[in-house]
Amino acid sequence: MNQKILVTGGLGYIGSHVVVELQNEGFDVVIIDNLSNSSIEVLERISSITGIKPMFELLDLKDKSSVVEFFKKHIDIIGVIHFAASKAVGESVQLPLLYYENNLNSLIYILQELQKKENSNFIFSSSCTVYGQADSLPIIESAPIKEAESPYGNTKQIGEEIIRDTCKIVPNLKAISLRYFNPVGAHKSSKIGEMPIGTPQNLVPFITQTAIGIRQQLSVFGNDYPTIDGTCIRDYIHVVDLANAHIAALKRLINGENESNYEVFNIGTGQGSSVLEVIEAFEEVSGQKLNYQIVGRRIGDVVSAYADTTKANKVLGWIAKLSLKDALKSAWKWEVNLRRK
Ligand code: WQD
Repeated sequence: MNQKILVTGGLGYIGSHVVVELQNEGFDVVIIDNLSNSSIEVLERISSITGIKPMFELLDLKDKSSVVEFFKKHIDIIGVIHFAASKAVGESVQLPLLYYENNLNSLIYILQELQKKENSNFIFSSSCTVYGQADSLPIIESAPIKEAESPYGNTKQIGEEIIRDTCKIVPNLKAISLRYFNPVGAHKSSKIGEMPIGTPQNLVPFITQTAIGIRQQLSVFGNDYPTIDGTCIRDYIHVVDLANAHIAALKRLINGENESNYEVFNIGTGQGSSVLEVIEAFEEVSGQKLNYQIVGRRIGDVVSAYADTTKANKVLGWIAKLSLKDALKSAWKWEVNLRRK
C-alpha cells in the first residue's frame, strides 16, 4: 500500500507541481482545493503527466466540520503539504480579515486534526517575505523576522509561530516550514504552470503575457534602487526544483531524520537576479524583444532578497538544479501552449 499524502491547494501553481513529483515518487495523493484560485481541469492535466489521477475533494478549509469529516474519512494520511491560502500581497492590504480568517483558520483546523493522530508529518508553504528587507545577504534562516509588509506576509509569520508552538507540545507532530524565494517557470510538459487570475501581480507571468501580446507593456517598478542596474534583485527558483524540495522535506520527516520537531529551510537558488537581468534572459531564451518601460517604485518592494542555501543543501540534502534561463524558457513554452487553443 503506498503512503498517502494530503496536498491542500493541490490544484494551484506550486501545489500541482508538487503533486506530480509526489506521484513520481510513488506516493498516493489526495488533493483538497476550493477552486478559488485554480481550475478543476488541472486534475486531468496532472494525470495526463503521471498517468495517475489523484483523489480530489472540493472543500473549503475554513469550514471546520468539513475538515473534521475529511480526516475521519482519510484516516490513513501520513503527511500533509499545506498550500491552500490566499496569497495576493496587495489584496491582503485591502482585505486583511479575509486573509487572517482564510489563512490562519484553515491552518489551525488542519493542525487540530493532525494532533489527534499517532504520528503526522506537516510541510508548510512559507515565504521569504517573512524576512522583509534582510539586513545581510544572502539570507540565512536565523535572520531576524521583520515586521510584515502586508497581512499576507503576516499570515506566513503567524502561521510559522502557530506550527512551532504546536510542535512543542504535540510530540507526535513533526513539521517543516519551507521559505520559498520567487517560484517561476512550469513543468517541461507545458501541461501545468502559473495561471494568474486577472492582471498578473508577479514579474514572470507579466513578462510572458506581454511577450505573447495579452499585455501591452511591462512596467518595471523602479530603477533607482542601490543595485547593479537600479532594479530590484530576487532569487528566482524553478517551480520543479521547488517541488522537489517538498519531497526532500517530506521524506526527512517520514524517515525520522529531522533534528527537531520543527525546522525551517530557505528554498532558493542562492543566486540573485535583477529585473533587467530577468528581462534580458527572457529575450534571449524566447527570441522575443520585450516591450517595457521604467515607472515608479512599487510600495512594499524590498530592494534585494536571495537565499543562503547552505542549510537546505547540507541538512535537507536538496539543491536547485535548474537555471533562471531554464525557468524562463519553460514559462514561455507554457504561455505559448496556454494560448494555442
Ligand atoms: C519581483 C520583482 C517587482 C511585477 C511576491 C510575494 C512573495 C511571493 C512571490 C507568495 C520586484 C518587479 C513585478 C511587474 C515589476 N508570493 N516587478 N513589474 O514581490 O518579490 O514576491 O511574489 O508567496 O510573497 O511578495 O515578486 O514577481 O511581484 O516581483 O517590475 O509587473 O519584479 O518590483 O522587484 P515579489 P514579484
